[in-house]
Amino acid sequence: MTERVWWRDGVVYQVYPRSFADANGDGIGDLEGIRGKLPYLAGLGVDAVWISPVFPSPMADFGYDVSDYRGIDPLFGDIDAMDALLADAHALGLRVILDFVPNHSSDEHPWFRESRRSRDSAFRDWYIWRDPAPGGGPPNNWLSNFGGSAWAFDEATGQYYLHLFLDRQPDLNWRNPVVREAMYDAMRFWLRRGVDGFRVDVIYHVLKDAAFRDNPPNPAYREGVDATANRFLPTHIADLPETQGIVAAMRAVVDEFPERVLIGELYLPLERIVAYYGEDLKGANLPFNFLLIGAPWDASFIGGLIERYEAALPKGGWPNWVLGNHDKPRLATRVGDAQARVAAVLLLTLRGTPTMYYGDEIGMRDIAIPAADVRDPFERNEPGKGLGRDPQRTPMRWFPREGAGFTRGIPWLPIGGDVAAINVESQEGDPGSLLWLYRQLLVLRRAHPALSHGAVQVLGCSHAVLVYARTEGDERFIVALNFTHAAAEPPVPLVGEVVLSTHGAGARGPLEGDEARIVRAPAAG
Ligand code: GLC
Repeated sequence: MTERVWWRDGVVYQVYPRSFADANGDGIGDLEGIRGKLPYLAGLGVDAVWISPVFPSPMADFGYDVSDYRGIDPLFGDIDAMDALLADAHALGLRVILDFVPNHSSDEHPWFRESRRSRDSAFRDWYIWRDPAPGGGPPNNWLSNFGGSAWAFDEATGQYYLHLFLDRQPDLNWRNPVVREAMYDAMRFWLRRGVDGFRVDVIYHVLKDAAFRDNPPNPAYREGVDATANRFLPTHIADLPETQGIVAAMRAVVDEFPERVLIGELYLPLERIVAYYGEDLKGANLPFNFLLIGAPWDASFIGGLIERYEAALPKGGWPNWVLGNHDKPRLATRVGDAQARVAAVLLLTLRGTPTMYYGDEIGMRDIAIPAADVRDPFERNEPGKGLGRDPQRTPMRWFPREGAGFTRGIPWLPIGGDVAAINVESQEGDPGSLLWLYRQLLVLRRAHPALSHGAVQVLGCSHAVLVYARTEGDERFIVALNFTHAAAEPPVPLVGEVVLSTHGAGARGPLEGDEARIVRAPAAG
């Protein structure tokens, strides 16, 4: 008995604003560009657009370093452009989710400038300042997620400040109630303007150990391979029990307004992800489930994952699934072009809110970035480990022409090859394209409640094929996914009318290699 709300039944589409559509020709995407593409998104059949940060920022981490929580960076437009985008989106029936970055601000935020001015500053306690260790050096062994110590020394005041990401992203002090209220007010500022919710950046990091204890060593750490931050376990800087109170408070702010959503970014194990639904489900509406992103692409593994996740959900907690985002290698690169089609069927037929990443609907792949053109600070700090995120942030391809319809200027990241096949316009004209498959799936999902909020049951898994059912009332669909390139017999018979197959509606019998098939089971009785 679940209440019908847009963020349960709907599909979220993530836009990385620098790379979606550039209206003013400066080579960087902007709000006008996104606004111009809203009809495309409505036509695709998604329900909500999540836009990565567009707030004023020196762009040290491309917007995840916010210098004003209540404005729009001139690169992207202005507040009027955001209002216009909201109005157009709502008129098209699309919701708009903004990215909220509470853990840290930019070092250019007036709060931090004021905080670092002197030890007596009224804003000193807005950030996390500590004296050097007794023998000198950083206060403890905490490491930045982007490499090196998480502590930066401030010569002028003789103390270190904490930054779990770049030194240009000082961590706000969420133990200070004045900071909390200022941030909740910033959320209200956007909610009042009609924003439909937030994706909250690294929500699990906001609180750190009050005693500043060292993190323990990570026995699994591989020198030279893993991000250096993984040298220690994040015991005292992530997922502290008190974090739940902050998540609940953010949710309460969102709930002051009707029909809004709170989504939390969480890179945590399954049993910890589900903790973020909160006591009595008063935490995040959707604690992001990234388990598919790192999962081995294997029928039994994924079948097991679905069962473990479903079993771990608190009663009434609504599931969600993600296959890609701006921090992870692209889906088509991870699983290959043929399996990207199977993945589309998986994502859009699982129980729970799916989040799609821009460009995955046309099969965009990671674009190799020459060392000289690297923009991502993560790659710059830890070169050569494959951690850089530029490859998955390259411009959206709209047309098979110069600039790919993304820009008339010089794109901020290379557009890459294969544009002739991987672009919206060409795929719109090809019923066999991935884009058509996504559209068909989105139409089917919208038309059949069984596919959005119906119950899910894994019916069988072989090493190659996963089969599950989605059921609501009298309606029952069987989804069969072949995770291999070879033809395979499904572990349970697929009885019923084929409503969709990646290999054409005439599909019968065993699954072909890379085939995904949806069958409508005959009505019972
Ligand atoms: C999140 C964002 C990532 C950003 C980091 C610091 O993980 O998704 O892009 O660099 O937080 O804000």
